[in-house]
Amino acid sequence: MTSPAPVWDLINGYAAYWALHTAVELGLFEHLPATSAELAGATGVADPADVTLLAQLLAAKGLLETDGERWSATPVSERFLTSESPATMTGLVRHSPGPKAGWAALADTLRAGRPSVEIRDALDALYPELVAATAATQGAVARGVAAELRTRGLWDGSRLVVDLGCGSGAWLEALTADGAGGIGVDLAHVLPGALNRLAGGTVAFIAGDYLEVTIPPRRAGVVILAHVLRAEPADRAEALFGRALDLLAEGGVLVVADYFRPADGALTQACADAVHDVTLALTMRASTLGRGLTETALADWCAARGARTVAVVEPVPRQRVHLITLSGGSQ
Ligand SMILES: C[S@@+](CC[C@H](N)C(=O)[O-])C[C@H]1O[C@@H](n2cnc3c(N)ncnc32)[C@H](O)[C@@H]1O
Repeated sequence: MTSPAPVWDLINGYAAYWALHTAVELGLFEHLPATSAELAGATGVADPADVTLLAQLLAAKGLLETDGERWSATPVSERFLTSESPATMTGLVRHSPGPKAGWAALADTLRAGRPSVEIRDALDALYPELVAATAATQGAVARGVAAELRTRGLWDGSRLVVDLGCGSGAWLEALTADGAGGIGVDLAHVLPGALNRLAGGTVAFIAGDYLEVTIPPRRAGVVILAHVLRAEPADRAEALFGRALDLLAEGGVLVVADYFRPADGALTQACADAVHDVTLALTMRASTLGRGLTETALADWCAARGARTVAVVEPVPRQRVHLITLSGGSQ
């Protein structure tokens, strides 16, 4: 008989997410190993029985272990769910799904073709924390890209770097480490994080819409579009891509980092393999005017402008980065 298990898995996924969110919010992973009563005391939960309930679900998901009396962390929760760990994902647990209201209103969003103003405002308000949560990973990706650019003879480490939607400033920090000048563009309320990170350095910042602010054209050795195109509607994404190319000096490189979703019409199997990327594209749909970026679209935009991807690198697993030039370049 056909089992309803796949449907229950999806329904229960909602509760499992909120159990994890709650555990992070309570700081439960910060007080292990401990009994339910000790955890209740440390996290301000009124009844230890509620801690037990939460902990049982987390244990079922492989995030806690128990000897029957005390709860302890698993290797996964110790590495990714404690706030002091360098690999912490606690910020991502909170913010990666975007504004929670966007999911409850997704049917309305799809009918209207756009999320409500309230949901988009909530996303804007979330950006400072979201970019802080991803800064460590993006710094690692950017350092890998800087090394690749040099090895491939695409950049000497000294020419101007322009980052459109620079977020935390992690990309600029990596690419200007050897003294290159930089320009970071982002929304005014997001820029303070990058300003703090790069205070006193060689980077200038411009607050505003990356499609509208004034930036000197044809000066940059490297232009970065990292995790911004997927949140833009097709016309703005293509315009932003074109603007980025226009900023390149002779021999410059456009760096496009994103989580690419499978191309339109791709087989269901391909979607199953890329479930994380499809989920992220739907996450964009829930709170932005974008619906993710495909590598097919990127190739079409390149072809229309005489540009081409000279290499695709993945310096950190699942972090795919296109290196694009206008006039060729080494592989
Ligand atoms: C997902 S974050 C990526 C941040 C950074 N590029 C990275 O990879 O770490 C998207 C960034 O784009 C910025 N952004 C969104 N819309 C923008 C706009 N119209 N103009 C400038 N920046 C924008 C957000 O504030 C946020 O910092």
